[in-house]
Amino acid sequence: MRILVCGGAGYIGSHACTVLAGRGHDLLVADNFANSSPRVLERLRRIIGAPVFFQQADLRVRADLDALFDGPRFDAVVHFAALKAVGDSCRRPLDYFDNNIAGTIHLLQAMQAAGVKRLVFSSSATVYGDPDSVPVREDAALRTTNPYGRTKLVMEQLIGDLCESDPSFHAANLRYFNPVGAHPSGLIGEDPGGVPDNLMPYVSQVAVGRRERLQVFGGDWPTVDGTGVRDYLHVMDLARAHADAIDYLAREDRSLTVNLGTGRGVSVLELVRAFAKASGREIPYEIVGRRAGDVAQVYADPSLAQRLLGWRAELDVEAMCRDAWRWQSMNPDGYGSAAVDEAAAGEVASQHEWDALAAG
Ligand code: NAD
Ligand code: WQD
Repeated sequence: MRILVCGGAGYIGSHACTVLAGRGHDLLVADNFANSSPRVLERLRRIIGAPVFFQQADLRVRADLDALFDGPRFDAVVHFAALKAVGDSCRRPLDYFDNNIAGTIHLLQAMQAAGVKRLVFSSSATVYGDPDSVPVREDAALRTTNPYGRTKLVMEQLIGDLCESDPSFHAANLRYFNPVGAHPSGLIGEDPGGVPDNLMPYVSQVAVGRRERLQVFGGDWPTVDGTGVRDYLHVMDLARAHADAIDYLAREDRSLTVNLGTGRGVSVLELVRAFAKASGREIPYEIVGRRAGDVAQVYADPSLAQRLLGWRAELDVEAMCRDAWRWQSMNPDGYGSAAVDEAAAGEVASQHEWDALAAG
């Protein structure tokens, strides 16, 4: 299938591209590099072993979307493109509403105009807020607690309304829990700009010496060891779920919403210990006060994804830490440490080559 991957230069999108390409799909990556590096494209080419078709585009700019859709028709779109930092969203909510919601509206309008009827969407467990019980099922109450989470919930509702209005339009709404880890090659991985908000990249940067120590947000939660419990999911398992969702949409005449997690909760200190073991590095930490907006524990009931997609997480916490560490130790400063000429050398195919390929 010909697939447009919006936000495909980002952390999860780039990993999904390796699996989608591996299944024989022809991909066009579109990204504005708001939170990623062009160097990802060269790394992707090395992993995939073929040119990576790329077109710079901003979903907020209709002309960019028109340019994306003016070539041969896509069979499906995978939509990763969003701003995703909770704290940042509290500081600049209008930017998040504009980027995530308006950008999605523009994308859906371009898809509708081009007659593209299959969408895989990146949603988040954040739509559950602080769930009444765990493990969390898809029919749990939806209640967001921050502007970013509200954009995810609104995007789910927008897509749901479009599916209602056009029975021929089908979407796979994937609610990710906590994606972590990296491609086993160590060539691509999570590279947050600035100080990492999330636990795994912060721990990884402590291990490689970029950060002095980890602050553990709360040691008095009602959990196994007093620290926060989450459902960490290997990004390669998550990537595979996107390829399975594409297969589902090609095979079934319906939409779906599924949780993507392991179904197992892991505490902060359990993750720290696993990372210290995988990296052979000490991870100094201090337990401090709780972070605003945090909850004690969230982990998925992933049984619906297994039933509908035939998907389940296969990689454990040790693999998550091992692969995250390989990426971090090979790229101590993330993509910023890659040789500048690496980006220039990238055989990133251009639009006309994509048109030629897509025209068959
Ligand atoms: P990321 O920031 O690494 O990737 C997002 C990509 O989208 C980036 O390359 C960015 O440049 C691009 N982008 C953003 N706005 C754009 C726009 N207007 N036009 C074009 N490109 C744009 O984030 P990620 O961790 O890979 O997350 C991907 C998706 O998964 C996001 O939608 C996010 O909300 C969702 N998600 C992420 C997590 C997580 O913990 N990483 C959890 C749940 C859901
Ligand atoms: C995990 C645990 C923290 C950092 C967030 C977003 C969510 C989604 C995934 C986009 C918690 C603790 C963390 C640190 C710590 N993103 N922690 N010290 O908060 O579960 O989810 O990322 O969709 O929307 O909310 O992930 O990695 O930030 O925190 O102690 O420096 O680690 O308290 O218990 P979270 P996280």
